[in-house]
Amino acid sequence: MKIAIVGSGYVGLVSGVCLADFGHEVICIDKDADKIAALLQGIIPIYEPGLDELVKSNVSAGRLSFSTDLPTSIAPADVVFIAVGTPSRRGDGHADLSFVRAVAREIAGAVTGFTVVATKSTVPVGTGDEIAHIIASINPGADVAVVSNPEFLREGAAIEDFKRPDRIVIGIEDERAREVMTEVYRPLYLNQSPLQFTGRRTAELIKYAANAFLAMKITFINEVADLCEASGADVQEVARGIGLDNRIGSKFLHAGPGYGGSCFPKDTQALVKIGQDFGSPMRLVETTVSINDHRKRAMSRKVIAACSGDVRGKTIGVLGLTFKPNTDDMREAPSIDLIRGLQDRGAKVVAYDPQGMMAARELLKDVIFVENAYDAARGADAMVLVTEWNEFRSLDLERIKSTMTAPVFVDLRNVYPLQEMARHGFTYVSIGRRQ
Ligand code: UGA
Repeated sequence: MKIAIVGSGYVGLVSGVCLADFGHEVICIDKDADKIAALLQGIIPIYEPGLDELVKSNVSAGRLSFSTDLPTSIAPADVVFIAVGTPSRRGDGHADLSFVRAVAREIAGAVTGFTVVATKSTVPVGTGDEIAHIIASINPGADVAVVSNPEFLREGAAIEDFKRPDRIVIGIEDERAREVMTEVYRPLYLNQSPLQFTGRRTAELIKYAANAFLAMKITFINEVADLCEASGADVQEVARGIGLDNRIGSKFLHAGPGYGGSCFPKDTQALVKIGQDFGSPMRLVETTVSINDHRKRAMSRKVIAACSGDVRGKTIGVLGLTFKPNTDDMREAPSIDLIRGLQDRGAKVVAYDPQGMMAARELLKDVIFVENAYDAARGADAMVLVTEWNEFRSLDLERIKSTMTAPVFVDLRNVYPLQEMARHGFTYVSIGRRQ
């Protein structure tokens, strides 16, 4: 199959590379000439484990190429994926569809022969109809089937998620697209990954409903964690006890500082707006959004309380800045509210993150960035573990403690056993566990 992917950001690039690896002929397109020039030289614009090698091997096998030229690149394609961003629209939280609409207009003038146009971008219900309308109004002769094919991959595990998905959701309104999309995903289909064919609007809603449900699950366990702290119970045990029930499931029950990232915050807000637009309010999701925002801000108060209620003039060492491990992504990271909250109360913040410091420098003012966890601990009145990178799971705790001014350790990811921290003599504050 000949496949063109418009938008070589996170989703577009990972999808393109993996589809090439399945044996398809793939061209990834982006209007950012610097990004395409870098990709042509084998420089990957994002940090994602395994992506480098996969790009290199598929480029040298002649299956993967890059271009800024949309019309020429998509003309021969059997399938054109739209994978441009749908950020939150400033001010109202609606998904901003301006990039999607612009791409639809460009595609309209460039397609030749029967072409499937599939959205991978997360788009509100009804966007497929709008894309079909845009294409038909610009080029009434265009023979296209617009499909919704949402992507469920996670940053940091993107390649594994793409190649071994729990399911592939494909929303179609034109039966001819069924055969084409089955062919695109044949290698996965043969590996028993279920293909769910459904209506286009349904597929669009599945993506939002999935992200909102996961965000609710996290938020639920976060509230249970607060209740555990208040009542002397242990959230890890509660999560295990409920998660062993297959109907609930044990994943996404790790209490923490609140969810962040480029997807959950944006998609939950957008789903709230979609519900309002259709006069069918998503009240649980509305509440989830508000609890999570509140929680991220509450984390600095937790650290301040651990420092006897006052951080003025104190040094706080922060471990981990990205919204989760194995990414360099700082979008909506809980570390941002935490650090700003501490600085507002007069703390000096020293921080380290294995991949996120370049992005963090742009976002956070007056933070001292250091090269490792031990440098962050030197002279610190408290350490705060915000992102559970593997290298923070096996810290030399004696070494950390020996250079700190006071042995206060706030662990917002419950990485360490309570007994171990007590044995090392830390005042250890974690999430939803006996302090
Ligand atoms: C999320 C979804 O998991 C993907 O399925 C989806 O495709 C993607 O959004 C998207 O819409 O593109 P991602 O944002 O990469 O993926 O990250 P997650 O691993 O889901 O983590 C999101 C946030 O939730 C992080 O801040 C993480 O720390 C937090 N989290 C996750 C918890 O606090 N507790 C948990 O148990 C799980």
